[in-house]
Amino acid sequence: MAMSRVLTISGQKGGSGKSVTAVNLAVSLALYGKKILLIDCDPQGSTTKWSGIKALGYQFDLASVLNGKVTIIEAIMNTQFSCLDVLPSGFDLFSVALKLAGTVSNEKILRLFLEDIEQDYDFIIIDAPSSSGFLSVAALTAADWLIIAMSTRYNCVEDFHCLLKLIKYVRDTHKTPLKIARILFNRCKANKEIDRFLVDQNLSEIKDLVCHTFIPEDDAVKKAIDTNIPLALHDIKSPASSAYLNFAKEMVLVFK
Ligand SMILES: Nc1ncnc2c1ncn2[C@@H]1O[C@H](COP(=O)(O)OP(=O)(O)O)[C@@H](O)[C@H]1O
Ligand SMILES: [Mg+2]
Repeated sequence: MAMSRVLTISGQKGGSGKSVTAVNLAVSLALYGKKILLIDCDPQGSTTKWSGIKALGYQFDLASVLNGKVTIIEAIMNTQFSCLDVLPSGFDLFSVALKLAGTVSNEKILRLFLEDIEQDYDFIIIDAPSSSGFLSVAALTAADWLIIAMSTRYNCVEDFHCLLKLIKYVRDTHKTPLKIARILFNRCKANKEIDRFLVDQNLSEIKDLVCHTFIPEDDAVKKAIDTNIPLALHDIKSPASSAYLNFAKEMVLVFK
């Protein structure tokens, strides 16, 4: 197998749908037969819950890898999908990050660990936390590609420019080729709503990066979350699940 594409899901402050997108993009790509590793890089652990790994139970997590207790291969969990593995996280990641923060070279730690498994997957998808703290920088440094989750519900121009500064910091400091792969709009109704939003937010310059697919507001997302299962298992025919399957198809084409 060729080298994995490493994609970090980042973007707006909390609530834009980063974790929902990480889980459901990973599952959708796995359903298309792509070999996927989903990494939860947020102490909140949403990805760990919603991918069903928390309910399965696990012994080691990303924190155990970062503090040297186990190798990354030992901490990776299989799921009910044969093509999907998950590296879980919980609140332990918070204290590990506190210890590692403040030393610039530590920001590369996740990228270095991924070298051990870079032949094993088609895509490695990392769910980043909503901040510009150590874990966000580590998640961005680990990836060559970024997917930005945005919602028309919130003003995002300041967040977006903050993210551009963070990307520049990562590129300059760690000499990685980090690039925006696509911007995904979540919780909207129509493409023309997105066009209007970009004009209103003074963000017309990013239009070419916006995915053709958007994720609609859909109660199925909340129901899947409430039962801690991916959308495709909750209701594969729901509008949001279909949209994630289309989005995954779009991403396969981007990286062809
Ligand atoms: N397409 C959607 N339809 C309905 N609710 C959504 C949708 N996307 C996100 N949500 C809601 O927004 C909340 C925040 O999403 P989440 O993925 O946790 O955001 P982030 O990771 O960016 O903080 C979810 O718990 C869910 O209730
Ligand atoms: Mg999240």
